[in-house]
Amino acid sequence: MSRTKLIAANWKMYKTPDQTRAFFADFLPLVSGHTRDEIVVCPPYVDLAAALEAVKGSNVGVGAQNLHWKDEGAFTGEISAQMLLALGITHVIVGHSERRQYFGETDDTVNLRLKAALEAGLTAICCVGEVLEEREAGLTEEVLRRQCVRAFHAISAKKAAKLVVAYEPVWAIGTGKTATPELAAEAHAVIRSEATEVFGEEFAAELRILYGGSVKPDNASALMSQEEIDGALVGGASLDPKSFAAIVKY
Ligand code: 13P
Repeated sequence: MSRTKLIAANWKMYKTPDQTRAFFADFLPLVSGHTRDEIVVCPPYVDLAAALEAVKGSNVGVGAQNLHWKDEGAFTGEISAQMLLALGITHVIVGHSERRQYFGETDDTVNLRLKAALEAGLTAICCVGEVLEEREAGLTEEVLRRQCVRAFHAISAKKAAKLVVAYEPVWAIGTGKTATPELAAEAHAVIRSEATEVFGEEFAAELRILYGGSVKPDNASALMSQEEIDGALVGGASLDPKSFAAIVKY
C-alpha cells in the first residue's frame, strides 16, 4: 500500500503574520528536500497570505482551518472556498472538535462544509473523534461511525477524491495524553470500514486517515509506524519550527 503520509500543522488561534514569516524562515531549511511525506501548515486566516508568500517554491503547502459552504453572502465572519482558492490555498480543515465544542458545529454543518470544500477541489481534512465520556461508556466506535456517515452524506466517491480524515480523540487534544499507537490504529480501522461502506473498498484503501492529539517529536515515530496511520494533525507541537520539523522527520 502506498499512501503518502500527510503531516499537517493546525496552528489554531496562534501567530501573527510577522510570527508566521519568522516560523517559515526557520522551518523551511529544516525540511528542505524532504519528499517522503506531504507537509501542510494551517495558520489563522489573517496569516494565510504571509504563509503562501513564504512557502513559494518549497515542499510545504498551506491550508485554512475552516470554510463556509456558500460562495458568498451575508455571513459575517465567514470565509468561502472561492476566497481560499483565489488566494492559492489548497487544503482546509473541517469539523475540528474545537469548532464542534465551542462554536456550535454539528454533524450537519460539517457535512455542508466538507461538501463545499471537496466541490471546490480543496483537500479537506475532516476531523472526527470521541470525547472522554463516550470512550469510557464504550461508545467510541458508534460515535466515529455516526460522525463519518453524517459528514460523508450525499458525497460521491468521485467528489471525495481529495478527502482526508483526521481521527482526533478529544481527550488527547492539548492534554499531553496521546492515544497509544494501537488504540489509534483501532479507531482508524473503524473509520476505514465506515469509508468502505459509504465509498467502496477501492476508495477506502486509498483514504488517508491522520491521527491528532498531543503528537510530539518523541511519540511521532511510534504513531507513524502503524500501518493504519497515514499522517498527523499537530496542534501545540507545530508552533515551534524545530519541534514540527522533528515530527515531519519522525
Ligand atoms: P495538540 O497537538 O495540541 O494536542 O492538538 C491536536 C489538534 O487538535 C490538531 O488539530
